[in-house]
Amino acid sequence: MCGIVGYTGHRPAGPIILEGLRRLEYRGYDSAGIALFNGPEEFYVAHATGKLDALVQRVEGSLPPAIAGIGHTRWATHGEPSDRNAHPQLDPDGRVAVVHNGIIENYEELRRRYGRGPFRSDTDTEVIAHILAGDLEAGMDLLEAMRHVASEAQGAYSLVAIASDDPGRLVAARVGNAGGIVVGVGEGEHLLASDLNALLPHTRNVTFLEPGEFADVRADTIAYVDIEGHPIAKTVEVLPYDPVAAVKGPYKHFMLKEIFEQPDSALDAIRGRYLTRPARVEFEDLAFLDEALAKSLTRVVLVGMGTSMHAAMVGRFYIERFARIPAEVDNSAEFRYRRPVLDEHTLVVSVTQSGETVDTLAAMDEARRAGCPQITLCNTPGAQTTRVADGTILLRVGPEIAVASTKTMIASMLLLHGLALRLGRLRGTLDPEEEAAQVEAALHLPAAIGEMLKSAPLIEEIASRYASNEDFLYLGRGLGDPIALEGALKMKEVSYIHAEGYAAGEMKHGPIALIDERMPTLAIAPRDEVFDKMRSNIEQVLARHGKVIALVSQGDHSLDDIVEDIITMPEVTPYLEPMVTVVPLQLLSYYIATERGADVDQPRNLAKTVTVE
Ligand code: M6R
Repeated sequence: MCGIVGYTGHRPAGPIILEGLRRLEYRGYDSAGIALFNGPEEFYVAHATGKLDALVQRVEGSLPPAIAGIGHTRWATHGEPSDRNAHPQLDPDGRVAVVHNGIIENYEELRRRYGRGPFRSDTDTEVIAHILAGDLEAGMDLLEAMRHVASEAQGAYSLVAIASDDPGRLVAARVGNAGGIVVGVGEGEHLLASDLNALLPHTRNVTFLEPGEFADVRADTIAYVDIEGHPIAKTVEVLPYDPVAAVKGPYKHFMLKEIFEQPDSALDAIRGRYLTRPARVEFEDLAFLDEALAKSLTRVVLVGMGTSMHAAMVGRFYIERFARIPAEVDNSAEFRYRRPVLDEHTLVVSVTQSGETVDTLAAMDEARRAGCPQITLCNTPGAQTTRVADGTILLRVGPEIAVASTKTMIASMLLLHGLALRLGRLRGTLDPEEEAAQVEAALHLPAAIGEMLKSAPLIEEIASRYASNEDFLYLGRGLGDPIALEGALKMKEVSYIHAEGYAAGEMKHGPIALIDERMPTLAIAPRDEVFDKMRSNIEQVLARHGKVIALVSQGDHSLDDIVEDIITMPEVTPYLEPMVTVVPLQLLSYYIATERGADVDQPRNLAKTVTVE
């Protein structure tokens, strides 16, 4: 959730840290702060409530030429967004500065035991600075003190601390699953960050801290240790990312850029995986999933949150259809608390663009305890889910910066389709003709998404007429059901309009009571085997004076005269429709949000990566 950046090296640290925070601002944006070494035994510290710009304005002209320091963008958990609750947090003597992501569960008890004077903030972080300062005074060095903190502070969190009497040294800790720490390895300089994006302009050589690991970082050296202080050897990984991918380019918002990138994203996701002659799907990091394992599976459980859970709902359909294995979807946060029945014949598939969502990691822990084989679909190389799972399917769509997920959802759905085909082939449940047809259809999908995007001007015009509505209903059937849920989620997230998504058949069991002229309905109504039922649902809305925007198949004019607005989708094989029907729903939310003046890329109260329960 919060963004962390640290730098130590030979260049001015202030601008590097601020730029890194800019690239992480999507993680949290209610306040920000920076601490730099500023001459002997002294820090330069600045905090500002609100977005990063407020901090940039505050420090303008006053940043010291320090060559090391730390910075933070906050997503509040303990204490309202304010200057005094912003990070870095310091001890009363200003000897230690610390930034933090995650939650310290026993901070109140720690405050009683280790407080070195009055606390200035309401955060669970400040006490960490008190403990570290006390430990330094008692003769420990910063790394030792950090290990002590990790043994005392309960919860899942990551920390980076600096001490004014040890200039140029950064010490990082990762405890539990909340939020990772990536170390950027440079020449004569090193960086720390909660997220790869902050490092991209400087280096693609990185290491990742695992839970229970610490990094002791100076300009020329990095040492890794565990909680006992034993050294750990780490291999430097080289990131595949193109730094340009994290730039907005000509688009007004990252969300719009990422929506328009989707034909490329779909192609990037399947390139080298959907193969012809013979038609098949192969994944590079799924060697563990062999024929014997695939045939031994009795069940697949897909877990995820938010948009990723909606993608998983589409995936469930593919797995049952092509691999003929009973499949279910669970909200990660609910999964472990209902003590699910799991065994080594249950394949658990986690879907998560960040790979760091704490609820999904907790669900994976539950599955690991039960001995389930696990696959993760994730967009972040090296993320924690990729370390826990037995196999990874990387989405490969480049950084997604807008908080609202778009291109990662399309890639997740598509690669779940690929996983189902792979499983179907291994299990012998997939007819080769069907396999060839699906591979062929998937290879045409990027073009179909591109066709759908041509409706953007029409959708912008429609959006301008609905922007003042305060409620929205989304209806779909079959594969349209999760897309209806996703349409409603997108609308809520970026435009703050109350929106509900339903399986259309459910409407008459309650939601229909809401329908009137002020409650527009978006109906996903492709010409499939349930079209007539969908048409009946549309008639029911119209009979109650509701306005309907219908998303229909190419060449279908049967609704032209009865609904308010029609959006036509290009031809696509029915199974792959979700990857096309979701696009106009993303655009509608985007255009309504911009019409209402909402902060599309950084909606209020949200964060890109949710690392607290
Ligand atoms: O990183 P993840 O895919 O695990 O994130 C899951 C949800 O937090 C995420 O999909 C959230 O709902 C997005 N803001 C949706 O746009």
